[in-house]
Amino acid sequence: MKHKKSILITGGAGFIGSHVVRLFVNKYPDYHIFNLDLLTYAGNLENLQDVEKSSNYSFLKADITNEPEINKLFDLYRFEGVIHLAAESHVDRSISDPLAFVKTNVMGTMVLLNAFKKIWEGDFNGKRFYHISTDEVYGTLGDTGLFSETTPYDPNSPYSASKASSDHFVRAYGETYKLPYIISNCSNNYGENQFPEKLIPLFINNILENKMLPVYGDGNYTRDWLYVKDHAEAIDLVFHKGKNTATYNIGGFNEWKNIDLVKLLCQQMDVKLSKPKGTSEKLITFVKDRPGHDLRYAIDASKISQELGWKPSVTFEEGLSKTIDWYLNNKDWLENVTSGAYQTYYEKQYK
Ligand code: NAD
Ligand code: DAU
Repeated sequence: MKHKKSILITGGAGFIGSHVVRLFVNKYPDYHIFNLDLLTYAGNLENLQDVEKSSNYSFLKADITNEPEINKLFDLYRFEGVIHLAAESHVDRSISDPLAFVKTNVMGTMVLLNAFKKIWEGDFNGKRFYHISTDEVYGTLGDTGLFSETTPYDPNSPYSASKASSDHFVRAYGETYKLPYIISNCSNNYGENQFPEKLIPLFINNILENKMLPVYGDGNYTRDWLYVKDHAEAIDLVFHKGKNTATYNIGGFNEWKNIDLVKLLCQQMDVKLSKPKGTSEKLITFVKDRPGHDLRYAIDASKISQELGWKPSVTFEEGLSKTIDWYLNNKDWLENVTSGAYQTYYEKQYK
């Protein structure tokens, strides 16, 4: 039987990871895709029901900070490629529990780097460790300018500091041990299967439940939004065509002030729910600001565009509309993730 390349995707039960797993399982029958995830509150195997029976897919429930277990899995499955997405990913949670972010994002990345190095050192040819990171490592922009791959790191939240730290360790392993790595730093993702603690799904859920829409501060904070499936496509390209030791910035060429985005979301929701114009906007409530709130993120994605030919496939209006439709058609999913009932799904499916 032909050898299937063994690819590890960490955090594959999460928001972005599940889109990457689906893309790889369907597109690369010659790979065996191992999705390793601890299934924290943010991980949900329901996201992958459509691929879970594929012969080139396996799920491994494990904690990336558990060194003996991770080493055992690397010894057993000899992962030739790693796409590392597992992380604590929510800025607000990092403000209330920073240590959890150091543990998972820094220590977890270290454990994976060591395990990869241990099995492949001396035989790195054809192997690759791809670390998925964020634009937040660059800190904040003022009213103008863009983050490029050479912008100095200047993280402001415990989340972004932990991601910056993990990026540095990945790079250090490349310099010190010649470990073949790639890093990409992406802007804000939105789309299907995002846990409703982040702005867009939280506000969709709140509109459905007729709850207030809590806009932090004056709402004049700016983010650069990218549809999650476009990010997954970019990850595929970087993993296969990117240069070792390179960094790629990925962004949507799509800046929105929070308050303008929320108004657009409200307008689309009113139309889809057949409510009178202006109904959802009445729920907007300005609340206490996030401490250390970064004013503006915006990515210069010209390197990945020019070198690898990547560009986003949908406009924000289209992507947002698809996203809302998905949430409206998957109210059970929303109910399950907010109630924690998806744990029952996991027990039933795998035990
Ligand atoms: P997410 O929170 O939706 O998913 C994270 C996944 O990691 C979950 O499935 C969770 O169960 C798993 N996980 C957490 N701790 C773990 C551990 N100790 N061991 C194993 N698995 C663990 O996150 P996301 O939004 O999909 O982000 C994925 C990656 O992309 C993260 O590294 C994040 O920093 C990065 N990123 C996210 C965005 C964004 O807008 N969401 C943008 C740029 C970069
Ligand atoms: O830029 C990439 C990053 O984008 C990723 O690395 C993170 O994992 C991801 O969570 C995201 O971080 P943000 O903090 O930008 O995303 P969030 O959805 O939490 O917030 C988006 C903006 O909306 C931000 O300016 C804060 C604001 N906000 C958020 C929430 C949850 C509100 O005004 N009210 C809210 O209730």
